[in-house]
Amino acid sequence: MRLKLGHLVLWFSTICLISHTLVGAQDPWPEAEILLQSSVKRSDPIASSSKSFLYDYGAEETNLYIPMDYSLEQEELKYAQYWETEATEWAKKVYQLLWESSNRYNNSHATHVLANMHLWSDYGIPHNKTLAYEYMNKYNELTNFSDADVLFQLAVMHCTGLFGTIPMDPVRGLLYYQKSASLGDLRAKQVLAYKYYSGINVPRDCNKALLLYREVADQVKNSYSDEQWEVLFPYVESYSVRIPDFSEGLLGKSLGTVGLSTRRMASARPDITSSFLTKMNGGNVVLQFGLGSAGGAFAPDTDEDNEDRLVDIYFTAWDDYKGTYTRGRNCERARQLLEFTYKEYDFDVPMMDNLPKFFYGRCLDLLGHIYFTGEGLDSPNIELAEKYLKRSLEVIESSQALRSRANIDLGLIQQYYYGNDTAAIEFYKKILESSNIGIVYFQLAKLRKKYPGLKLGDPSALMESAYLKNYVPAIYEYARMAEQGINKRYNCEQIAQFYKSFIEEDEINVAPHLKTAYAELLNGNSEVALWAYTLAAEQGIETAHVSAAYLLYQLPCNLEEPPRTSHERKVMALTYYTRAFKQDNVDAGVVAGDVYYLMGDYTGALNMYQSASLKFSPQAIWNLGYMYEHGLGVDKDFHLAKRYYDRVLDHNRKLYFAVKLSVWKLKLKSWLGYITGGKLYGCRTEEYQPGTNPRPWYRQIVKSFQMAGRENSGLSLEDPQYQQDRQYRQHQQQQNQRQQYQQRHTSSLWDRFRSLGLQREDLISIGIVLLVFLISLFIRVIAARRGWNMNNMQFQVNALGGNFELQVFAI
Ligand SMILES: *[C@@H]1O[C@H](CO)[C@@H](O)[C@H](O)[C@H]1NC(C)=O
Ligand SMILES: *[C@@H]1O[C@H](CO)[C@@H](O)[C@H](O)[C@H]1NC(C)=O
Ligand SMILES: *[C@@H]1O[C@H](CO)[C@@H](O)[C@H](O)[C@H]1NC(C)=O
Ligand SMILES: *[C@@H]1O[C@H](CO)[C@@H](O)[C@H](O)[C@H]1NC(C)=O
Repeated sequence: MRLKLGHLVLWFSTICLISHTLVGAQDPWPEAEILLQSSVKRSDPIASSSKSFLYDYGAEETNLYIPMDYSLEQEELKYAQYWETEATEWAKKVYQLLWESSNRYNNSHATHVLANMHLWSDYGIPHNKTLAYEYMNKYNELTNFSDADVLFQLAVMHCTGLFGTIPMDPVRGLLYYQKSASLGDLRAKQVLAYKYYSGINVPRDCNKALLLYREVADQVKNSYSDEQWEVLFPYVESYSVRIPDFSEGLLGKSLGTVGLSTRRMASARPDITSSFLTKMNGGNVVLQFGLGSAGGAFAPDTDEDNEDRLVDIYFTAWDDYKGTYTRGRNCERARQLLEFTYKEYDFDVPMMDNLPKFFYGRCLDLLGHIYFTGEGLDSPNIELAEKYLKRSLEVIESSQALRSRANIDLGLIQQYYYGNDTAAIEFYKKILESSNIGIVYFQLAKLRKKYPGLKLGDPSALMESAYLKNYVPAIYEYARMAEQGINKRYNCEQIAQFYKSFIEEDEINVAPHLKTAYAELLNGNSEVALWAYTLAAEQGIETAHVSAAYLLYQLPCNLEEPPRTSHERKVMALTYYTRAFKQDNVDAGVVAGDVYYLMGDYTGALNMYQSASLKFSPQAIWNLGYMYEHGLGVDKDFHLAKRYYDRVLDHNRKLYFAVKLSVWKLKLKSWLGYITGGKLYGCRTEEYQPGTNPRPWYRQIVKSFQMAGRENSGLSLEDPQYQQDRQYRQHQQQQNQRQQYQQRHTSSLWDRFRSLGLQREDLISIGIVLLVFLISLFIRVIAARRGWNMNNMQFQVNALGGNFELQVFAI
């Protein structure tokens, strides 16, 4: 392949050479430029799906394909294959012209285009890290180090080594960041601030970090107009998400301790509202959402479905208004739907039940809000906004104690449009009765400054409430207050943290590549997505750390092999998981520990688990127990292991049964250890736990076969249930051990069972299993009579393993 590619290039160059000598040497850049203009640089799967006015609900599922393994050879093959078979004539032609322009004429434009083609897969040219670096570097030299964006990207390349493509060179990276920052690149400043903040490649220096963060924050703040800042802070479609959150988070639903970052998923209607709605209607509401019924939402439907239909309409409009991860925002479409709803349903209000009435009110509120903000319109229309908002108030507040969100917008209109602060305060106070909303606290804090006489509360406390509700301008204002020492509670790091989180909210200016990253994932270009997430990770954004790390190294599920990937990528994944952990993502700490574990570095794993356990991760505490139980990276210590298992319960009651069984198993082992002088379980021995495993028995058996020969392959510690699966295979052996024990301590063991909180069912199932082993007991008695000592017993037990397996399967 490569040879052929070489030929291709050679052929190109020959053609070029010939054409030059004939036509007279000329830089082909203008020709290439014209060709480039005839094509799209980047297809945007999110925008394209939002343009249409049709509702297609089938396409809503996020279908992300993220390969687990990475191999350079495979990538090279794919790259070569592209040029051999897939490349269009257009692509070949353009590439040839650009290549020529860059390599023969040192044309900086062509070099830049080539660099972006290989790095960002522009115009569909496949990602190629080697070439990307070469052209980036060349462009940088051609432009005499004057392009801030390219300097920034080169700096990231040097700091990460492009995952093994070039040698890592943090010093050079730092220089480039500084150069880029001095040319005014916000992102580079942000990186430097983050580096000083957490001591990466530079000594930790909070004052420097704070200085830089404040500088960036001021710049970000000044990019908003007064009106945006004071009245209507622009809505941002955020793509700051952790990829694993599209399923169930890094550790899964029950074990993770970190909330999901995917806040803009398409509304899962029944779930979002049912508990609340059920309360509203005295517990008699049954929500039904006809599949695709919203597809015909424009067609009025006069039968009983009306009630659900209003709920459907509201959430359909809401999804359009906020944009979901697969369909971009479309305020215009939302407005049209809502206007239609108003015409269709307003007469029915007196006949409506509370539920549809409430949602009808919310529809009007949203419609009013759209007119108030002017989103999707040429300009705001305050008159119409007021009309709909007031109607929303009427509808919602006429019959229920609930407060409409419309109070906020009406307050804002009074305050900024009519200049009637008294009326505004009334609206704000009313909405605060029923819910805490950031912008309301923010406005009240400002009004409190204006009218010190009014009893509105302490301004910094109000601002703090607004900040705690994550109202973006309030984060900045509160950081300012904290810095001026309004309440002397905060140290340098906390203030820097305030500014940091404020900056990261402004994705449009600071991290537009987060959206690119997600779009490229949808397009199936995970390496391009990785690059985009890497930029954001270097900027210190926690979600990007997790996403980049996840693209580099996903924990294997259940019984799969760990990812096959290069050492550099593993190390980088560890770095990013660890940095996310340092930003309080406890789950990422556990995953980092697991990655160490899978790489065979038990000390590293232990350190991570220990740090995570200090932040109360039940999974980390559990894993610590496991490490101590098996003496991985530490000396075996059953007492400590038991203490860790017990502690899991303090944090997560759901794990009660698993914990109890682990402890029980430990006790058994420790007695056995006592009896046999610690020789019996040199190998990994665990307990079979009857009745706890949710998997059907036949799957367990299949698994037990699958697991043969994988005993010490270092499977994931991720889920205790999986550990139990793994342990099943060994259970025959342990049944024997248990029997050895029972011969001596039968009565106390049964007491033990009860004291450990086992259910009667469990005891029964244990009993059945024990019955089967009476046969083996018989054999053992004979064995004992022959005077075999305990070490030989172990041998015998293993030898009998095959027999026991048959017996168990017979049950
Ligand atoms: C990148 O391009 C070079 C030159 O065409 C090629 O030799 C190499 O295999 C490519 N690398 C990858 C990872 O595709
Ligand atoms: C292009 O730049 C390289 C290195 O900067 C230089 O060696 C070469 O002579 C230049 N070629 C032309 C045609 O200017
Ligand atoms: C590049 O910049 C340096 C100083 O930054 C200057 O001395 C040099 O002349 C510049 N070279 C070119 C080719 O512009
Ligand atoms: C402001 O609003 C209040 C209550 O809505 C009203 O009583 C008052 O007259 C208004 N003031 C002005 C100056 O319009």
